[in-house]
Amino acid sequence: MGLGNGAQRPFQLPQLPPLMLTKSAAKTFFLGGTALCGVAFVLLTMDTLAQLPSRSHQEAMTDQVVRGHHIWNKNNCMGCHTLLGEGGYYAPELTKVVERRGAPWIEAFLEDPEGFFPGRRKMVKYAIFDPSKVGAETAAANKADIIAFLDWVGKIDTNGFPAKPTMNQAGPQIPADAQRLEGAPPFFRSVCSGCHAVGGVGGNVGPALDGVSTRLDEVYLRRWIANPQALKPGTAMPKLAMDEATLDSIVTFLRTL
Ligand code: HEC
Ligand code: HEC
Repeated sequence: MGLGNGAQRPFQLPQLPPLMLTKSAAKTFFLGGTALCGVAFVLLTMDTLAQLPSRSHQEAMTDQVVRGHHIWNKNNCMGCHTLLGEGGYYAPELTKVVERRGAPWIEAFLEDPEGFFPGRRKMVKYAIFDPSKVGAETAAANKADIIAFLDWVGKIDTNGFPAKPTMNQAGPQIPADAQRLEGAPPFFRSVCSGCHAVGGVGGNVGPALDGVSTRLDEVYLRRWIANPQALKPGTAMPKLAMDEATLDSIVTFLRTL
């Protein structure tokens, strides 16, 4: 509005100094810079290569780890999962999966992935991990191999990758009734707890097991856990491979609830 009133001063570009680089100076600058960066690149690469053996703890790369790697490649696990940040973004990052889930959980999960997350995105059910397809021995060996491989990857010194999420610190760390899980056998804590809560701690895929001994007797519990499908075809609880001693310890524990 007020612009038109005052005297109009034409806008002027500030005076620029003349260009400093001659053609030959630019050439020297380019070649020198390239050579310098090249030398830095070679030195840094040598430094990385020198560090790799200790950071990737190559000495721990057993035959089992190598077999696990073949399983990983052959079945294209990378098509859905990332490992060390590389691969598909469809499924969870697996670099620290052994630390996060534990071997018993992973074994049970690979045998029946869908049972663990009914109705969710699907993880492939591989025949190579299924005792009814390839036999108990081969399935167990394949699972041990892939877990050895994932465990080896998880122990690579990755400078802190993947970052741990920062959790809110609010609230008590241990819920009031967490002691109820205290006497639980390790298999129960690592596998059953993924789906069942006890004392408010654990997953909610299956019903909470507080007071389960008042609902179900010992014989039924034993038969149910050994083979849920046999008692209730189509149930979402998977048949979990475990030895007699583990089954005993779990039934004994459930009887205390
Ligand atoms: C078609 C895609 C796909 C392929 C291929 C695949 N997965 Fe998965 N996987 C998934 C999905 C999806 C999940 C997450 C399950 C969910 O949350 O519902 C998953 C979960 C997992 C988990 C549990 C991760 C966690 O933190 O809970 C493991 C372990 C795993 N996969 C191992 C493997 C292995 C080993 C292979 C190759 C033999 C493989 N996956 C191939 C899709 C895939
Ligand atoms: C992948 C998830 C999953 C896992 C792992 C799992 N369960 Fe279950 N469980 C279920 C589901 C779902 C039901 C309900 C089944 C139904 O009624 O069809 C169930 C039912 C039960 C029941 C019957 C509860 C009731 O009140 O009727 C018991 C007992 C039980 N599970 C014990 C166990 C034990 C012990 C383990 C570990 C050895 C285990 N479950 C592992 C999903 C799971």
